[in-house]
Amino acid sequence: MKSVVIATAALGVLAVHAHPALDVRAPPGPSPSDRTILNFALTLEHLENAFYKWGLQRWSQSDFDRAGLPEGARQQFIEIGENESAHVDFLTGLLGPGATRACTYKFPVNDPKAFAMLSQVFENVGVGAYTGATSMLSKQYITGSASILGTEGRQAALIAAYINGVEGWGGPWNSPLTMSQAYTLASPFIVRCPSTNPRLPVQVFPSLIFPPNPSPGSTVPVKFKTRLPPGTKLWAAFLTGNSLEQEVVPVRGGRVTIPKDVKGQVYAIITTSEEGATDRTTVAGPAILQFEFTLEGKFMDD
Ligand SMILES: *[C@@H]1O[C@H](CO)[C@@H](O)[C@H](O)[C@H]1NC(C)=O
Repeated sequence: MKSVVIATAALGVLAVHAHPALDVRAPPGPSPSDRTILNFALTLEHLENAFYKWGLQRWSQSDFDRAGLPEGARQQFIEIGENESAHVDFLTGLLGPGATRACTYKFPVNDPKAFAMLSQVFENVGVGAYTGATSMLSKQYITGSASILGTEGRQAALIAAYINGVEGWGGPWNSPLTMSQAYTLASPFIVRCPSTNPRLPVQVFPSLIFPPNPSPGSTVPVKFKTRLPPGTKLWAAFLTGNSLEQEVVPVRGGRVTIPKDVKGQVYAIITTSEEGATDRTTVAGPAILQFEFTLEGKFMDD
């Protein structure tokens, strides 16, 4: 077990333990079938595909220009949207009859800038979901999954760096998300799905709320609901992309200390285990935290 010690003014010296992330090999318990995993991937692809169609229909080139997005941004979204649609077709073709169909969605964004920010979040969640799910697939599907994963990663980097003007990735690793974690993040955008869609073995975890724009290394209050007895010891597990291990810190008086060296899209999960978060130990989250650095390496909120 690796253990990093960081000092914080508020809490004195605090040990930050790093633990194996969501089991990089494969999650414990019975593995879902290939069909289930492919339908789960298709669920996320439908969401992305619908999101690009929706935004592109809503905002014209002049809306994008007026929002101050870089030249060609809308055209990039057209191409990314087409690629997402190709992923939908690919997975639907693999699954044949019984492939999950698109749902109706709601996207709480009101302008092209917010649309571009949310697209960065979606692409990163897609990357995390494929990273987490690939090891559960049978051999014949792994190349297809890796291939989509790489494309989603390039899209995420292009949207971040070219369109949103921030660093395109946060660290050497993509944080693997479990199906339930990725679905928890996708679920606020899903309104209603066809009743014929296959049921996915996923849970939606309670929400975890951080204050807006927390800085790396700061100690901040977090909000979540739990029915655990008061006084239950809880931890916050951070999936930072700095390693394939989670960084785990105690929750003290409803506050957690964010790891110092965080960049890009980071996930935080409240867990009952000092060993980090699995679906079994999750109390709330993931929450998405964005630590945006400019292309010159400057923290956006400095
Ligand atoms: C996918 O995106 C690339 C790069 O923007 C674009 O050139 C290509 O036409 C797209 N392909 C499809 C099938 O949508």
